[in-house]
Amino acid sequence: MPPTPAAQYLSRRKIDAPLAQRFGLGLSADAWSGLTGAARSAGFDTAGLAGAGLAIQNTQSPGRYYDRFRNRLIFPIADTMGRPVAFGGRVYAPNAAPDEPKYVNSPETLLYRKGQLLYALHLAKDAIVREKRALLMEGYMDVIRAHQNGLTAAVASCGTALTIEQAQALKKLCGQVVFVYDGDEAGQNAMLRGCEILLECEFDIRIVALPKDHDPDSFLLKHGAEKFADMIGTAPDFFTFFLDGACRRYDTRTPTGKVQAADFLMPLLSRMKNPIARQAYTRQEAERLEIDDALIMQQLNNRAGPAMNRLKEQIENQASAEHKGEKMLLRLAVESPEVRAQLAKRFDLVWVRNPSLRSWLGTCISMGAHENISWDDLFASCATEDERGSLRALIIELDEWEPPNTSVRAIAHTLARIELNYRRRISRELVRQIDQFYQAGDEQETLACTRSLDETAKPVPALGRQYFIRRQNP
Ligand code: UTP
Ligand code: MN
Repeated sequence: MPPTPAAQYLSRRKIDAPLAQRFGLGLSADAWSGLTGAARSAGFDTAGLAGAGLAIQNTQSPGRYYDRFRNRLIFPIADTMGRPVAFGGRVYAPNAAPDEPKYVNSPETLLYRKGQLLYALHLAKDAIVREKRALLMEGYMDVIRAHQNGLTAAVASCGTALTIEQAQALKKLCGQVVFVYDGDEAGQNAMLRGCEILLECEFDIRIVALPKDHDPDSFLLKHGAEKFADMIGTAPDFFTFFLDGACRRYDTRTPTGKVQAADFLMPLLSRMKNPIARQAYTRQEAERLEIDDALIMQQLNNRAGPAMNRLKEQIENQASAEHKGEKMLLRLAVESPEVRAQLAKRFDLVWVRNPSLRSWLGTCISMGAHENISWDDLFASCATEDERGSLRALIIELDEWEPPNTSVRAIAHTLARIELNYRRRISRELVRQIDQFYQAGDEQETLACTRSLDETAKPVPALGRQYFIRRQNP
C-alpha cells in the first residue's frame, strides 16, 4: 500500500513513528462530520463536543454541528499531568487551499485556558527540573524537533505572547529560561516582550539568537544538535543581548542615538526587582553608551511608576473577560460595515481600555461604513513591528473563537458592556480621589470630583439593566 499523504508529510518533515507517538500526533479526516459523526454513534452528546472545542455549531441552522479540525495533522496539547485538553491542527495536504490558515487551534474551553499552559510541559518537566532550566520556543514543530535531538527541556508558548501564568508555572520548576525564538524580527520582538514578563518572576534569562531565516526546527535540521547545544551553552544573558541589539539599531555615538538606546532598554531595567542586579545592568549600559549611570537611575525612578502600571494593565488584561469583549468588538468592526456605522454614531473610543485595541478600532471607524475592510488595512496602519506582532497574535486568537453573534441585540449588548466597564472603572478612580481630596481638606476638588462621579455614574443603572436583561433572555 502506498504511504498516505499524511505519512508522506511526516516523513518529509523527518518525524518518525516513535517521535510521532511520543507527541501523540494524529490526523483528522477530510470530512465535515468525521469526528462529530463518530462521536454521535458512540453515544456522545454533540453539544458537549462543541463545548470541548471539537465541533462548531452551524450559525445558519443551530443544532447542527460540524468538525473544527478537518484534514489536518493533529498536535494534542496536554495539561501538566499529560491529559490532552486542546489541539492544534496543521494543514499538510498537498491539495489544501492556499488561503487555509497554517494552524487551527482549539478555542478556550472549561478545560483549556490557553495562557496557562505551555506546549509539551508534561514531557519536559523532568528535564527542566534536572537541568534547572527551560528552553522556550515558539512552535509545535520546534519543540518536537528539540526533543528529537535530546533537548528535552523544550516547551513552547504556541505563537502567542507569553503570560504571567506561564512564567509562574515554569518558576516552580527552574530558575533559568533560555529563549530560542525564531530569528526573524517578529521573534526578536516577542522575546523582548517575553523578557518583560519573565522578569516579573525574577528568572535568569538567556537568549539564543538564531540566524534571521531560521527557527529551532530548521536550524537543528541543518546544523545538528551539537551546534545547537553549543549556542545554548554560550547564550548571552538577555540584557547583554538587547544592549548589543540597541547599539546595532541606533547610532549610539550621537546624543539622539544614546537616548533611543536608553529608552529601548528602559522597560527591561524598570522591571528588574533585585536592586543589585538592576544597578549592575545599569552600569553595564552606562559604560557601553558612555553616559553617566546616575542619569539612567534618575530616569528609571521617574519611569518606574508608569512602566509598572503598564505591566499591571497588561497582566490584568490577559485575564479579563472585559478584554475579550473589546477584542470581539474589533473583529465585528473589521467584518461588518453596519457595526462600523453604529460605532461612528454612538460610541466613544475612550471607553476602550486596551490602548492597541483602541487605536485599531479608531482606524476601523475612520475607514467608514461603506467599504469592506480587511485585517491587512489594520496591518498597514501599524506604526511598529511590535504593533504588527500584537495584531498578528490577536488574529490567531480571534480565529479560535466562535463566530460572533452579529444580531443587533448582541452588538448593543457588547457596546453596553464596554461602556459599563468604563464607567465603573472611572467611578472607582473618582471615589478614590474624592477620599484623598477630602482627607487633605481640599473642598473645591472634592466637590469637582463628586460632580464628575455623578455624571460618570448616571447611565450605569440603565446600562446595567440592558446588560442584565439580555443575559436573562439570550
Ligand atoms: P510557526 O509559523 O513558526 O509554525 O508558528 P511552526 O510550529 O514552526 O510550524 P512549521 O514548522 O511551519 O510547520 C509558531 C506557532 O504559532 C502558532 C502555532 O502554535 C505554531 O506552532 N500558530 C502559527 C498558530 O496558532 N496559527 C498559525 O496560523 C500560525
Ligand atoms: Mn516555525
